[in-house]
This record gives sequence, structure tokens and C-alpha cells, in this order.
Amino acid sequence: MTTWLEAPRDEDVAGPLARRFEEAWGTAPAGVWAAPGRVNVIGEHTDYNGGLCLPMALPHRTYAAVRARDDDRVRVRSAQEDEGWEGTLAEVGPGRPKGWAAYPLGVLWALSEKGFHIPGLDVLVDGRVPLGSGLSSSAALECSVAVAVRDLVDGVGALPLTELAQVCVTAENVVAGASTGGMDQATSLRAEPGHAMLLDCRDFGVEQVPWRVGEQGYELLVIDTRAPHALVDGQYAARRRACEDAAGVLGVETLREVDATALDDQLARLDDETVRRRVRHVVTEIERVRQFADALAAGDTDAAGALMLASHVSLRDDYEVSCAELDTAVEAAEQAGAVGARMTGGGFGGSAVALVREADAAGVADGVAEAFAARGFAAPQFLTATPSGPAARVV
Ligand code: GLA
Repeated sequence: MTTWLEAPRDEDVAGPLARRFEEAWGTAPAGVWAAPGRVNVIGEHTDYNGGLCLPMALPHRTYAAVRARDDDRVRVRSAQEDEGWEGTLAEVGPGRPKGWAAYPLGVLWALSEKGFHIPGLDVLVDGRVPLGSGLSSSAALECSVAVAVRDLVDGVGALPLTELAQVCVTAENVVAGASTGGMDQATSLRAEPGHAMLLDCRDFGVEQVPWRVGEQGYELLVIDTRAPHALVDGQYAARRRACEDAAGVLGVETLREVDATALDDQLARLDDETVRRRVRHVVTEIERVRQFADALAAGDTDAAGALMLASHVSLRDDYEVSCAELDTAVEAAEQAGAVGARMTGGGFGGSAVALVREADAAGVADGVAEAFAARGFAAPQFLTATPSGPAARVV
């Protein structure tokens, strides 16, 4: 028996959330907003190197019921956590508060740092993006609050989406203290239904790539390994630092500027074998994103699948951000007939994504679940990644 995580319908979440808001705080919210999690199809650990990636929004979203107040009190609560937060923005800043409230509060703080007058707010969230699964539940949380504030607070609506995304990145980098690169927030705010999003992280330019994966008889199967993300933050930051240091040695602003056709010459300029492998991953991964977009345009699904497998090998061996559960998921998916599969997101746990023929999806999920059971891993969970739309008001 495999467990599938269906995305709920908006009306099944938004109505109950608005009622809960009113029960808790005695007045109705001004509205309910929702922002999606994402799955990255290819282009991993490229965003903070100014590179390319190809994510899409999931149908699974985080919902936020929000109301502006007449005073400066801010209250945030969640349907998933007992621990809420109440105070004023003066108590929010780099590294504080700790815990999940740092994400929504960080957005308010980052906006006020940009000069917006942020009033008191009541915020009640209901996260339907699986937590801790590498599917960007934190970006979904930030972006659900960001679009609510955009609609409720004077002036914020004039911010272009790239800047609103940057506000969410600042919240995550500075207040929550995670040095992530911007792919997740860009996807949550700018994805289009029926498209993967070719994101150029040099300037956060977007090209929407039509991908009606279902109509072509394929499915993107997300495998949540449920492996705990041990040491994620420290390891992630260490990878990022190694890349930035290597760019410094090579005399380029980011690794995006390294010429892939002269990669060996560039690698020879780096003393450390580990750093060479990190750089090789980034530079070859950016090329794989280009090739993947070409394969999609040509309708060559087999080529796309092969690129996903090559991406996984590079992440596993050169970038060293995979783990036993992710490797097992990818190998078992391939053995059960997936056209391609790879780890997705930051790594060290979280999820893998497999490109499968629709008719094979259940069989691939069974194959992965059996491989996990045989190795004594916790049972994985599955979801279908239908390319979905961006953060928006739902009620
Ligand atoms: C996490 C980060 C992203 C990105 C990926 C790796 O999801 O939040 O910014 O760096 O890891 O591609």
C-alpha cells in the first residue's frame, strides 16, 4: 500500500481556515491567499551560482488568512503548530524570532526595511505543502503572506514580482537564517499552470516552457523519502561558500561565468579536489538545464529522462548532497521503468522526482516502496506534480 498526498481543493481549506480565524480572533479575515510549493525538475544548486534551473509549482499550497489591524500588534498562528507568535515588528530582526514564525514575520520585516509602513496584522496559516520534504514549504509560507500584504498594504502592490520574491529571500536569508538562493520564491510567485519555468538566476529572468506532461502520457512523480534533513543548513551553507570561494579564485563573479567548453582548463586552476568536483557539478548542471529545455521543445522525453539521471549522479558523486534514501528512490524508480529520476531540492533527505509514463506511475511507486521496505527505511510518500499556478488570493 503506497500513500499518495493529494492536493486539497481551495474551498476545502479556505472556508474552514477563515472560520477558524474568526473563532480565534473574533473577526473575519480580509481574505485568504495561497502560495504553492515547488518541485525542481532539473538545475540543482545552480541558483546561488547565477545559473539556470527548471522548477514548476506544485498543486500543494500554503494558505494564509490575513487581516490588517488598527494598531501595530502582529499575531501569527498556524493550523499545524501550537506555538504561535505575538508581538510587534520591533522584536523581529536578523536571527529572531526562532522557529516557523520567522518566515512570515521575516517578510513583514523585509518590507518594512524597504521603507513600507507595515501595520499590525493577524495571520493564520494552513500549510498543505509537505513539511521538511524539500518541496519549499518555507517559500510557500513566505509567499502566501507576501501576496496577502501586497493586496492589503498601500504601496506594496507596486512592487514588481521579482522584488517581492527578493523580499521573501531576504526574510529567509536574514531573519530565518537559511542562505538559500531564490529559486523557490521565484517559482511560488511566478510559475504558470501547464508550464515549467526556465529561470535564469543571473537576473531572475523567466521563460515559461509549455509542458502539458499529462497530455503527452507522462507524469512527474514526486517521491518524498521522509528522510530527516540532518545538518542541512550547515552543509548547504558550506556548499554555497565553496562555490563563492572557487568563483573568487577563478576571477569570475559567479560560477555561471565559467566557460563550460573550457571546463577542464578552469578546474586545473583549482588546488582542491573536492572544490573541483563542486565546480564541475555546477557548470555541467547548468548545461544539462539547457539541454533539458531543448529536449522538451523537441518532445524528446527519453533525452530529458537521461539528463535527470545524469543530474542525480553529479549531485551524488560531485556535489555530495544525496543520501541513501534518495539514491534508493532514484535507482528503484529507474528499475521499475521510470524514464528518468533524480533528487530534487537541497538534498540530504527530502524528495526525488521521477519522469514516468502515466501507465507506469503506480508500478514505479510500488517498486520504490518495496525497495524502501527491503532496506528498512520509513515508508515513502508520493505525489503527482501537475504544473500549477502562482501565489494568489483564493477568497
Ligand atoms: C534549496 C534552496 C534553493 C536551491 C535548492 C538547490 O531548495 O532553497 O534556493 O538552492 O536548495 O537547488
